[in-house]
Amino acid sequence: MDALKNPRKVERLVQGQATSDGAGVKLVRVLTQDLQRRLDPFLMLDAFGTENPGDYIGGFPDHPHRGFETVTYMLQGRMRHRDSAGNEGLLAPGGLQWMTAGRGVIHSEMPEQQDGAMEGFQLWLNLPARDKMRAPGYRDITSPEVPEWQAEGVTVRVLAGSAQGVAGAVQRDGTEPVFLDVHLAPEARFEQRLPPGHNAFLYVYRGDMLLVGDTAVRRQRMAILANDRAGDPPSDGVAVAAGSTGARFILVAGQPLGEPIAQYGPFVMNTREELVQAVEDFNAGRLVA
Ligand code: FE2
Repeated sequence: MDALKNPRKVERLVQGQATSDGAGVKLVRVLTQDLQRRLDPFLMLDAFGTENPGDYIGGFPDHPHRGFETVTYMLQGRMRHRDSAGNEGLLAPGGLQWMTAGRGVIHSEMPEQQDGAMEGFQLWLNLPARDKMRAPGYRDITSPEVPEWQAEGVTVRVLAGSAQGVAGAVQRDGTEPVFLDVHLAPEARFEQRLPPGHNAFLYVYRGDMLLVGDTAVRRQRMAILANDRAGDPPSDGVAVAAGSTGARFILVAGQPLGEPIAQYGPFVMNTREELVQAVEDFNAGRLVA
């Protein structure tokens, strides 16, 4: 592995906010609306994880989206997806669902289990203005279909973008998202190259802590990674090391769009007028027409 010359530092640690969504599903909103500009092109990250069916059994009944992509990655449990474009899929452990809402989708995500653990992430990725009204799209990538890179003590599940020359399950022009699930044995190290202008963050979900440079990132914390464009050389990636209990984390990075962000609940457009149009279209039954 080529050593990085100027790995990114942690700019800020974020705890996230406990909330509920859908029909009472308990989750932690890690990437909140006030961070959308800083973490452009990412709009939201929810982490859910519970062994109590009462926290998830209501699921997410039919609801609309327009103007962006929802990316769901399951660690434990099963959810059934159905949408207005006629797509249906079962989200299972280790699997990825990539839904492009485009001009409009109405979908449901309902637990397909009565008990047991439910754990995973939902990430919202913005679409550039030119693609916000494109036709919706949907992909299910099952766990065995997720490419992996392995070295001693390190497994990287490459969900999107690439890592160590391994192309991920999903590639996107424009936002060029990188989405990795990284598993580290105790004391193991990993480096990922990232373009200096891309916004990046990671979220630790197993292990006591992850060292990013000399900053310890504890479990259930997000670390926003600094973009050092002016450095000499500019920042070239991120270098991490697990502590004595090992660590698992997701790493997310992408090219900022630099466009205005207007959000009203499940609609994310560029202007207020486009949001009003989205609500009118939804109320008139035209969102998915
Ligand atoms: Fe949704």
